[in-house]
Parts: sequence; structure tokens; C-alpha cells
Amino acid sequence: MIKAALTEQLEKLKAEITNCNKENDLQMLHSKTIGRNGIFRELMDGIKELQAEDRKSYGQKVNSLKTEFQQLIEKQQKALFEKGLQKTGAADGLDLLVPALTGSGGSTHPITAIEKEIVEIFTGLGFSVASGPEMETDFYNFQALNIPEEHPARDMQDTYWLDNKMLLRTHTSPCQIRALAQYGVPVRVIAPGRCFRNEEVDASHENTFHQVEGLMVDKNISIANLVYVLKLMLGKIFNKDVTVRLRPGFFPFVEPGFELDIKCLICNGARCRTCSHTGWIELVPCGMVHRNVLSMSGVDPDQYTGFAFGLGLSRLVMMRYNIADVRMLNRGDLRELSQFYSYT
Ligand code: PHE
Repeated sequence: MIKAALTEQLEKLKAEITNCNKENDLQMLHSKTIGRNGIFRELMDGIKELQAEDRKSYGQKVNSLKTEFQQLIEKQQKALFEKGLQKTGAADGLDLLVPALTGSGGSTHPITAIEKEIVEIFTGLGFSVASGPEMETDFYNFQALNIPEEHPARDMQDTYWLDNKMLLRTHTSPCQIRALAQYGVPVRVIAPGRCFRNEEVDASHENTFHQVEGLMVDKNISIANLVYVLKLMLGKIFNKDVTVRLRPGFFPFVEPGFELDIKCLICNGARCRTCSHTGWIELVPCGMVHRNVLSMSGVDPDQYTGFAFGLGLSRLVMMRYNIADVRMLNRGDLRELSQFYSYT
């Protein structure tokens, strides 16, 4: 049905397409074949010379051949792209089909990524996102948190004092006080932020780090509520069910105060190097908001109770991505940081 001469020509063109290694040449072959004035136009025109009853099958045949060519050209285009050969073709002239150079792109810092996830989890639970300044007053960073002047607990956190008598906040807990002042009770907030401590930097200590503070105050809030939200959040972050336990911990602004541990995710409690052979990993300092803190903020501690936690993000990130040295997080080395691209 299709003239022998044309069939032969089609076979030749097919071979040319599959052997083509220049984007420009492929473009030419595209015009010659399925382009507006290409061979398929000629083939279709041939339909006029046929008897009415032959036209349908002829049309179908030509169309399916056309699809075949289309696919062949696309396949070759992809192959050329992958080989990077289209660039060589571009040197011959202006080639509008060369894909734009996109550069190396950026990546989200793992701390930012995990912070974003935590914010999403808590906003899903009805928490609002609060904040506070990195340069704080003694009042918010210490006094209102039940750490009066000369209190020995001040030595727990080595502070960067500034010339203007202010300080760089040593934790995100001042955001608890600011949130209570701003929203009153009941309140449900988290406050992510950067904190600073005047510490010697080594593989497990940084002088600049990130925390997410959490505070929930309402009637009838108990330790059970605290454990529930922390377990839920950690389960989502590590993408598996986590076992948690509370140990007593001392922080002047909570009573009782705890360290929440999770069963080591590496050895599942069997004791390994990651958990210093204890089977557990200390993860979240927390507790029930101290009566003094509530009353100093004008909340009646006989009516209201609440929990607070201060989640450090470095430990979380290090565990999730298996990072041994905390200094990597602040080094700003893009070769190291770009590997987290896929997690964003
Ligand atoms: N602010 C404390 C710290 O950084 C952590 C904490 C927050 C403890 C809230 C209890 C409740 O060490």
C-alpha cells in the first residue's frame, strides 16, 4: 500500500534517527519526518489517490507509523540529553533545545529541616508558634524562670553577658514567660530558636545551638499529657514507635523536673556505643511548670497547671542522620551539608 520507494526512505530515516548524535541533526530529522512538511505529510496526501474502502486502513497505518517515529525521536532526544551530547550540537549555532543550566541549587540545613517538621507536628496538635529575641534581659532568661540573682542554678548555664547588661539567651525558656504575658492562659505554644552558651566547643558541645521550647498551661494538665505529646512527636521524627521513660531532672522553673529518655534506636535497649552502653538516650529536658513561674506571670497555680520542655535539636539531628560531630552543623561546609538535600 505504501509505495516501495517511500518505505525504503522511511527505513533509512529510522536508521538516521537512531544513529543521530547531534541535537541539531535530530531537529532536522524531526522536520523531515513528522514536521509540518515532512514525509508523513506526503504519505497522508497519498490517501487521495486511493479507493474509498482502502482509505481507512491506509490512514491508520500511516498514523501508527507516525507515532512510531515520534517515539523514536523522543527516545533519541532523551538519550542525547543523558549523554550530554546536545551541548556539542549547540556549538554549531543557537540551539533552543539545550536545557537551561540550573546550577547546583541549595539545600535545607538539617537543623532547619527538623525544626520545620517539629513545627508542623505541634501546629497539627493545636500549638501556636511563639518566639522571643536572642538578646534577652536577665529578667526573662533567669528571674521570671525562678532563678533569682545569686542563685547557684545560674552556674548551670554559662552565660554570654553583653556590655549593655543584657545577655544572649542561654535557652528558649524565656519564650515561656513571653508567651504567658502575651496570651495568658490557657496557652499552647512552641518556640523554636537559637541559644548561646559560653562553652568550650568540642565534638559534643557547641556554643550556639537550637532548641524548641514547648509550653502548655490549662486546667488539669498532667505529666500524662507531657509524655503523650513528646512520645507522639518523637515517633513522627524517627518514623517509628519509640519507648520513653522519665528520670528526675533539676531545672528551677519546673517541679517535678525530668529528663525524658528514649530507648536507643540503634540497639533497641540492648546497650551499644551510641547509647554509652545504657540502652537509653537522654533527649528532652522537661517538667511541670513551677508554681512560682505561674504566679510570677499572674497565673493562679491552684487553678492552672502546665508542662514545659526544651528540646535540643542538635542531638535529634545527629541521631537521625548519624552525625558524630556536632561542629559539623555550624561549620557551614556545603560539601557536608548538601548531602541532606534529599531530606527536605
Ligand atoms: N531550658 C532548659 C535548658 O535549656 C530545658 C528545659 C526546658 C527544662 C523546659 C525543663 C523545661 O537546659
